[in-house]
Amino acid sequence: MANAAVAAPRRRRLSWAAIDERLGISGLAYPVPAHANGIGYILGGISFFGFLILAASGVWLAQYYHPTAATARESVVYIMNTVPFGDIVRGVHFWTANIVMATVLLHFGRVFTTAAYKRPREANWLIGLGLLAVTLGLIFTGTVLKWDQEGYEALGHNVEIGNLIGAFGTWFSTDFAATLPIIGRLYLAHVVILPAIGMLLLIPHFLLVKRHGISSLPAEADVAVDGGPAPERTGSTFVAHIVRMAGFGLVLLAVAVVLAAVVPAPLGDRPIPGTETTKPPWMFLVFYPFEDWFGLPALLWVPAVVFAALAALPFLDRSPYRSPRRRRLVMAIGALAAIAAVLLVLYALVTVPVAHVQGAMG
Ligand code: HEM
Repeated sequence: MANAAVAAPRRRRLSWAAIDERLGISGLAYPVPAHANGIGYILGGISFFGFLILAASGVWLAQYYHPTAATARESVVYIMNTVPFGDIVRGVHFWTANIVMATVLLHFGRVFTTAAYKRPREANWLIGLGLLAVTLGLIFTGTVLKWDQEGYEALGHNVEIGNLIGAFGTWFSTDFAATLPIIGRLYLAHVVILPAIGMLLLIPHFLLVKRHGISSLPAEADVAVDGGPAPERTGSTFVAHIVRMAGFGLVLLAVAVVLAAVVPAPLGDRPIPGTETTKPPWMFLVFYPFEDWFGLPALLWVPAVVFAALAALPFLDRSPYRSPRRRRLVMAIGALAAIAAVLLVLYALVTVPVAHVQGAMG
C-alpha cells in the first residue's frame, strides 16, 4: 500500500501533464487556418526543414573536408570514394541545396502571387529578401569549396566583384588577411557567417508570421475589403501544421537520398589556372547573359537592381486587394519578369562559355 501511494505521485510527475506544465508544449496547438496546410502555404516550412538536412549533412562533411586550395578537391574525392556512405551524404547535401533553392523560389512566388507582402507584412517581405540572398550566398560559397574548375571560376568572380566594390569589397579579395587563404575565409562564410545571418533573419521571419498569422486566402481577403465577412482563422492547429511540414520534409530527404544514389553530386576536373570554361549553377544562370553583354560589373548592378525593385514592391503596390485578378498590372509585370528569366536562362544554356574575369584568375 505504502509503495503504491509513493508510486502514484511519481507517475504523475512523469506524466504528460507534468512535462507540459514545464515546457508548455500544448500551447503550440493554437488554431491556424486550414489553408495553411496546403502545399502553397507550407513551402517556407519545407525550405526550413531542408536547411536542417543541410546543417546535419554539412556538419558530417566538415569532419573530412580540407579548406585549402592544395587539398580541398582531394578531400572531396576522399569523401566520395573512401568515407563510408560519403558519396551519399555529399549527394544529399548537394541535392537538398538544389531542392531548397527551388522551394525558396516557389515560396517567394506564392508570397508574390497572393500579395502576402502587403500591409502588415512588408517587413517580413524584406526579411525574406535577405533570406533569399543568404540562400544564394550559401550555394555560391559551397560551389567554390569543391575546388574544381567551376569552383575556381566562381572564386575568380568573387575576387573580381570584391575589387569592383572597392574598399567595401576588401573582405572578398585575396589580400584581406595574409595569414588565411581566401578559400579558408569562404569556408568560414559557408559554415559560420552565412548560417548565422540566416538564423538571425529566420527568427524574426517566424516571429512575424506568428504575430500577423498566415495571410488569408486572397479572394476571402478581398471580400472582407469590400465589407463582406472576415476570413476564417481556424480549421487546423499549429501542431498539425508542423506534423505536415515534417512529413513534406521527410519526402524531401527521401528524394535527396534517391537522387544522391542515382545521380552523384558532380565534381569537375582539377582547375586550370587562367582558364574560364564553365557556366555557373542554374540559379545564377539568369545573370550570365548580362555578364556576356556588359562584362563582369553587370553581376553587381543587375542583382542590385532586381533586389531594389523587389524591396520597393510592397511600397509601390499599395491597393488593399490581394487577388491576382484585381492586381492585373503587378501580375503582368511579374509574368513578364518570369518569362524574361526563363529566356535568359535558355540563352545562358545554349551560349558558348567565354572568359569574363580579367586579372584575378591568373
Ligand atoms: C530561407 C528561406 C525562407 C524560409 C525558410 C522561409 C520560411 C517561411 C515560413 C515557414 C513561413 C510561413 C508560411 C509559409 O511557409 O508560406 C513564411 C512566410 C513568409 N515568408 Fe518566408 N521564408 C524564406 C524566404 C522568404 C522569401 C525569399 C520571401 C520573399 C521575399 C519570404 C517572405 C515571406 C512572407 C511575406 C511570409 C508571410 C506569408 C503569409 O502570411 O502568407 N520568405 N516564410
